[in-house]
Amino acid sequence: MCGIVGFIGQGSVQETLVEGLQKLEYRGYDSAGIFVLNDPNDGYLVKQAGRIKELREAVDFDKPAKVGIGHTRWATHGEANVTNAHPHLSQDNRYALVHNGVIENFKEIKEEDLAGVQFKTQTDTEVVVALIAKYAQEGLSTIEAFHKALKRIEGSYAFVLIDEADPETLYTAKNKSPMLVGLGQDFNVVASDAMATIQLTHDYLEIKDKEVVIVTQDKVIIEDQDGKQVDRAPFKAEIDANDLDKGAYPYYMIKEIDEQPAVIRRLIQTYKNDQGQFEVPADLITAMQQASNLHIVACGTSAHAGWVGKTLFESMVGIPTMVHTASEFAYHQPLLGDKPFFIFLTQSGETADSRQALVKVNEKGYPSLTITNVKGSTLSREAGYTLLLHAGPEIAVASTKAYTAQITVMAILADVLSNHDYGFDMGHELSIIATAMESILSEKDTIKAWVDANLMATRNAFYIGRHLDYYVSMEAALKLKEISYVQTEAFASGELKHGTIALVESGTPVIAVVSDPTTASHTRGNVEEVKARGANAMVIATQDLAKEGDQFVVPSIQAELSPLATVVVTQLIAYYTALGRGLDVDKPRNLAKSVTVE
Ligand code: F6R
Repeated sequence: MCGIVGFIGQGSVQETLVEGLQKLEYRGYDSAGIFVLNDPNDGYLVKQAGRIKELREAVDFDKPAKVGIGHTRWATHGEANVTNAHPHLSQDNRYALVHNGVIENFKEIKEEDLAGVQFKTQTDTEVVVALIAKYAQEGLSTIEAFHKALKRIEGSYAFVLIDEADPETLYTAKNKSPMLVGLGQDFNVVASDAMATIQLTHDYLEIKDKEVVIVTQDKVIIEDQDGKQVDRAPFKAEIDANDLDKGAYPYYMIKEIDEQPAVIRRLIQTYKNDQGQFEVPADLITAMQQASNLHIVACGTSAHAGWVGKTLFESMVGIPTMVHTASEFAYHQPLLGDKPFFIFLTQSGETADSRQALVKVNEKGYPSLTITNVKGSTLSREAGYTLLLHAGPEIAVASTKAYTAQITVMAILADVLSNHDYGFDMGHELSIIATAMESILSEKDTIKAWVDANLMATRNAFYIGRHLDYYVSMEAALKLKEISYVQTEAFASGELKHGTIALVESGTPVIAVVSDPTTASHTRGNVEEVKARGANAMVIATQDLAKEGDQFVVPSIQAELSPLATVVVTQLIAYYTALGRGLDVDKPRNLAKSVTVE
């Protein structure tokens, strides 16, 4: 959510910034801007509403520059327009600042500290740059003014600051929002995600909350909040620049949907030991075995994967498991049991709501595990244990391969926790699923034709199912609504008749997921009920439960793992609906990947 890049040293500053922003565009795409500097006070600012390609067209790439900052925005305070786009300048034009996060006390600072300042924008960021300029006007050096401003503000931030008087230095700081410093030969970079600058360097320095970093062409100095220097060794970011390319695919989403069988196979390989059994760190298993209850905390698609995880832990391991929406859990915890253990599911490892819940869990001293796709991410660093998804970068805003990878890792974890003893061979079943996914993916044309015939004109739709089929329906509905804007809701199919069925009209699409032998006949009964009221009812069923006339039949797989197959059909339904409606599949309106504000 918002992307930031900064560069200092030898190289093409504007090109690095714009290219970096392009890689981060999925983090926010309301507006974007850059500010570069070559000599004192010759700052060059370009801002555009809309996408990075518009910014690229407006930038003068020949203008000499030694240092620069860039930002792609997902609006929090103030409309998405050119004025509110970053970078923001102080009123005296001395400072340029980019910001990701939310300053909670910006109104208070405006009134109490900056009375009389004429603000040009509605952003919280402009207040911070004005505050830094004010402290500098009062006689503080830039670094002193920056430190003092950071002590005055409350909220989340990743900042990069340029002093127009000094083209030799960049300043950065973070609290709750991600930011890294990348180390190069004759240059250094700062970025909210290593992905933005991975073509330049694989060596990065982590920045901790409330630290301030002074970056020059050949030096990086980290200071704690009191100005004391901190030593830190760099780490290698393991991102393959090729993974960031969508190749021949028209959209990242379809590439990522297609990658799922390979991700499952990679997870099987990664987590199997030399004896062919799944293995995770023994101390993690010991900690989980001592728990009275598991609590899965996550948002959005990750929370939907959590519901499937709950079923796996309860049915295979016999441990009571609850699923919590992170934004609810962070401030109101239910009774947790006497020895709770927490599992944070997060593709990005940066989601602010999940992170806030982890802060609360850590305050209480409870043990925790983060299951994430991003090594070294904030939630990974702050939880006691980490298991990685090994799914490769997920760029499309709508999450697909992270969902199936999360379920797979939880299945592997449940397998180890249960000492491989619950009636089937997990490794074998997961390989069958990878093949089943391939068979579903080979039917794209069938799904596209079905979507074209049934979902192109509708304003709303429903997914229904029971138990695991209901959990998949929740994910299916989110996917369809977020990229196609068809208002879609998921219901436990037995609940329909308790109210929602009133919404079913002639032609309303109702898609039922049927993979659970225990409840299949009940769900089919519910399908008949909506049909009787004029719905355009459709069924996705597993082979063993399929009936003539079902719209899509999925190969039969181990029932506990059925979401890994049925969800793929629903991902393709969402994709082809958005595509058919001419929408930007990878960048749906109002959204951004990795939600780093609460
Ligand atoms: C929907 C989607 C979101 C994320 C949610 C959590 O397609 O991607 O609902 O799942 O924002 O993100 P992570 O998993 O990064 O914590």
